[in-house]
Amino acid sequence: MHVDGKPYRTIWLAEDGWSVEIIDQTKLPHAFETVCLQSAEDAAHAIRTMQVRGAPLIGATAAYGICLAMHAETTDDALDAACENLLATRPTAINLRWALDVMLQHLRACEQSARAKAAYQKAAEICDEDVVTNQAIGTHGAALIAQAWQRAGKDRPVNILTHCNAGWLATVDRGTALAPIYHAYDEGIPVHVWVDETRPRNQGAALTAWELGKHGIDHTVIVDNAGGHLMQRGRVDLCITGSDRTAANGDVCNKIGTYLKALAAHDNGIAFYVALPFSTIDWSIADGVAEIPIEERDPAEVTRISGRADDGSLATISITPGNSRAGNYAFDVTPGRLVTGLITERGVAEASSEGLLCLYPEKARATGGTKQ
Ligand code: MRU
Repeated sequence: MHVDGKPYRTIWLAEDGWSVEIIDQTKLPHAFETVCLQSAEDAAHAIRTMQVRGAPLIGATAAYGICLAMHAETTDDALDAACENLLATRPTAINLRWALDVMLQHLRACEQSARAKAAYQKAAEICDEDVVTNQAIGTHGAALIAQAWQRAGKDRPVNILTHCNAGWLATVDRGTALAPIYHAYDEGIPVHVWVDETRPRNQGAALTAWELGKHGIDHTVIVDNAGGHLMQRGRVDLCITGSDRTAANGDVCNKIGTYLKALAAHDNGIAFYVALPFSTIDWSIADGVAEIPIEERDPAEVTRISGRADDGSLATISITPGNSRAGNYAFDVTPGRLVTGLITERGVAEASSEGLLCLYPEKARATGGTKQ
């Protein structure tokens, strides 16, 4: 995507040919800054501190973390240590484990002397595949937006509600939930996006609003609790969110608050779609609600808030009484029964094991499932 006319991905090789550059997402929307990663620990730090975030981008950064480890030392011990350290950075997004598995399998089969080059090639493939995958998600999802526009009578923009940031900043490029929106907009369909602010880290207010604005897409930031009201009043045509981990039964784990939006959409008869790449599906998890691990983060993200003060300075302030405890659950799971459809690179599936296996029949044996 473009930032002030210049094309960017969220992660790329630096001019030296081995270090890795990222956009520091903790600085947005107030400053656009890039950071150069030079070691596997730098990559782990970037994921842990959420300089990079979003399931597909976490996976891509981990893959480049392995490249940086191999640039320094190509032994089995170095490979295993880097994998272990990167895997421990964040627990919920399955793309992290997926990307590390891809890298590990590929590099174990290589001579040590060939590992560094092979690692960079594989990481680049993972990134390119993410972009192609998201473009396909965009095409399939845009068709649903076009239908919603048709149903609305084509005389006003389609109103789409999204939660957190599942745009190009959360992936290598294009995004998952926002890919259909970009695609529809680029095809001339008028769209307006309701952007949930997404407390506590405000990925909606800070990142989704920023990237939609850079693309010229009309949007309104709302507090997380406004969605139900807007749905009751007929001001939301459809919802599209991303996913950090999708269980084999179609349950979807995404940023905390997604479940409540799905409940409100269900109560109001509004379509609730989840856009996701194959790398987000965890075929080993049969029941997402019961089994997906939910990240719990620093309570200070709840008790404090950061932003730009009226004098232009950046500030972090406390918003709770000093002695109040805070809980910071970063994700929740939306049962498949509340999801209208899963928008994948292969098309739109029902959010169930049958639906997923129709699109990914090759997984039927792996999950022990049968395709009817
Ligand atoms: O904690 P984050 O910012 O990494 O969470 C990101 C999300 O929940 C996104 O919605 C999800 O990764 C889908 S991304 C394409």
